[in-house]
Amino acid sequence: MAKTAKSKIDYVILESCNGQLELHRGRGGYAWKGQKGKKLEWILPIKVQDNADEILKIIYNLPEWNSVGKGKECSLDSKELRSAIWKKIFPLISISDLPQVNENGSMSDLERLNKTRTKGRYNDDDDMISIESDECYTFYDDVETIVKHFGIDYWKNKVVYMNCDDAGQSAFWIYFFNNFKRLKLKQIISTRFDGSKLDFSGSLFSNQWNEYDGFIVKYDGKKTLRIPPVGSKSNFPRSYSDKECMSIANNEADIIITNPPFSKFEHFFKCMQSTRKDIICFGNGAAVQYQWTKDLWQNKKISVIPFEFNWFLTPTFKKKRAKTYVYTNKQQLHTTNKIKLLSEIPSKFYDEKGMLVVDNFVPSDYYKPFAISVSPIKNGILNSGYKLLQCSYRPVINNKYKFKRTIIVKELNEKGKPNNEFDNIKFEEAKIKKVGQEKLFD
Ligand SMILES: C[S@@+](CC[C@H](N)C(=O)[O-])C[C@H]1O[C@@H](n2cnc3c(N)ncnc32)[C@H](O)[C@@H]1O
Repeated sequence: MAKTAKSKIDYVILESCNGQLELHRGRGGYAWKGQKGKKLEWILPIKVQDNADEILKIIYNLPEWNSVGKGKECSLDSKELRSAIWKKIFPLISISDLPQVNENGSMSDLERLNKTRTKGRYNDDDDMISIESDECYTFYDDVETIVKHFGIDYWKNKVVYMNCDDAGQSAFWIYFFNNFKRLKLKQIISTRFDGSKLDFSGSLFSNQWNEYDGFIVKYDGKKTLRIPPVGSKSNFPRSYSDKECMSIANNEADIIITNPPFSKFEHFFKCMQSTRKDIICFGNGAAVQYQWTKDLWQNKKISVIPFEFNWFLTPTFKKKRAKTYVYTNKQQLHTTNKIKLLSEIPSKFYDEKGMLVVDNFVPSDYYKPFAISVSPIKNGILNSGYKLLQCSYRPVINNKYKFKRTIIVKELNEKGKPNNEFDNIKFEEAKIKKVGQEKLFD
């Protein structure tokens, strides 16, 4: 019987085993279990078309690749090598080629927490589920989408500061570094927080690098300056709110751009607002509904760009879903065309307080307050003749809460005059009558 042809080489596989980094041509990506007798710590399969050799050459030619033995495929591991490799391959990785984390592990929350704490690293699918949203990284392509949205002229002559970013691994840093000349940037600066658990360049995978290592990196198109220099110990964490980082934000930066920890979004945004610099940062989609943002929306001090970013990279190079938007204090002017006569809106309902709730389209001929989901805000409804009245409102229907909405109203009333009648009203949610065993949320 004829042998079935072996499947095509479709991956270059970078693996960490026995304290060395190894690089192979391979098939099947994450199905790769490593070589017999060697303990595989982690792998990063890089999907390739016909360019496996090209990618291998790029990595073998890095000055940091210190070949071990006769062949070129093994190198001594080092933090610098991981950074150097990552800078080259991150732009080649596409979201669609990565597998999704398994979020349905079998462990209890406590077991998972303890396991993660004691091992201090994530190396299987059950662990993945315990990754905090703070520890998910931005994809390179998403940075490009943001940069393009602001337009090439926006970046010219600017000092761009990334204050939650390791220059060795952050897609923001790598993108601005690679496109420095094209964007005509003046300088890029990043500060790496030493509490970061997600660290492609080391600490996640090996405790030997897990010491105090917040640092600053500055690049002006010619020279890269690292403070403190490689090998010297850092002496403080370099949180975005540390005095030294705030001083960079206040005195050196023109634009502050990053994906900050979601859990600190309010603190981050307020700290950066105090600098009066341009802020561009990721945040949870639900941040539209945070109460403290009300004045900012109403005074056009916060805006969102018209894109949704749904995938982030995890510590073991998989993708994890999280609905996020990019928020900025640079006023955005995009408008939406998702406006229709009320009678033509297919999906709508009135809740137990009589509040109209619509999601995909908003009504052009309804002059009372109504509730919407976050998407219309991202799509520019607040630039399209509507104003925000209340950030958060949970409609109740059939004695069950629906998911949280935001209340808006048309800026002009039926007579074409400013619609101020509802400005100072607090819209109370209906009360759930009986909290038995039944489901509270839909
Ligand atoms: C959502 S991740 C994004 C990382 C990176 N900016 C990116 O876009 O890929 C947020 C990072 O901020 C780090 N972080 C947490 N607290 C911080 C702080 N106070 N200052 C700076 N960074 C912090 C987290 O450890 C995490 O690595």
